[in-house]
Amino acid sequence: MKTDESRKRCTVLIARPTPSGVDLASLQRLADTVGAEYALLDQGEPSIHSRLDEAATRSLAVTLVPLAVPRDRYLETWIARSVANWRETRETRLDVTITDGVDSTSGLTAAVEHLASQPGRAITASPRAFRSPAWSDMPEHDRHILICRGPRCTAYGAGGVFRAVQDEFPDALVTPTGCLTPCNLGPLAISYPTGRWHPNLTPETISDL
Ligand code: FES
Repeated sequence: MKTDESRKRCTVLIARPTPSGVDLASLQRLADTVGAEYALLDQGEPSIHSRLDEAATRSLAVTLVPLAVPRDRYLETWIARSVANWRETRETRLDVTITDGVDSTSGLTAAVEHLASQPGRAITASPRAFRSPAWSDMPEHDRHILICRGPRCTAYGAGGVFRAVQDEFPDALVTPTGCLTPCNLGPLAISYPTGRWHPNLTPETISDL
């Protein structure tokens, strides 16, 4: 974890993947450029909890930067709630602060103005790519398992559960989802055709899915 040793403080950029994912290489480059680490609120890892655990191990204060354009109030709300949950579930005291969002900076306005003044480049994508034949194939599967990767389940370890389910059930259709609602029972999944809920999962307790 990169630190400002003189301040004993580290900075963590917090992003939130879209349903189609997030460009982690680009996020890593940005973090490297500004001397920070990154974490993901949901849908991926490292989680906010794991970054705070790292910082606590090294006795570092933490500044969190919500990284969303346009502003994402869900991101900011759940960063705060994740920190509150981390504090409630750990013995350690940690100085954690949060900055304003990226949209609050004049630099963002200047960057958008600069781009808007450009002619742009030609778009050369083929229309065939919009309807690839592969997207007519309905995948065979013996069951459909929906695994919540919302912010609370992410904090409770949904990433490890997701990977374990993919390994354990190669013939299943495994779909990550946003919040499925019974968050206090996370990490959780619902599987079909039974329609059964599977609460409080760990990589060791997925066998009855
Ligand atoms: S975050 Fe998983 S059920 Fe809400």
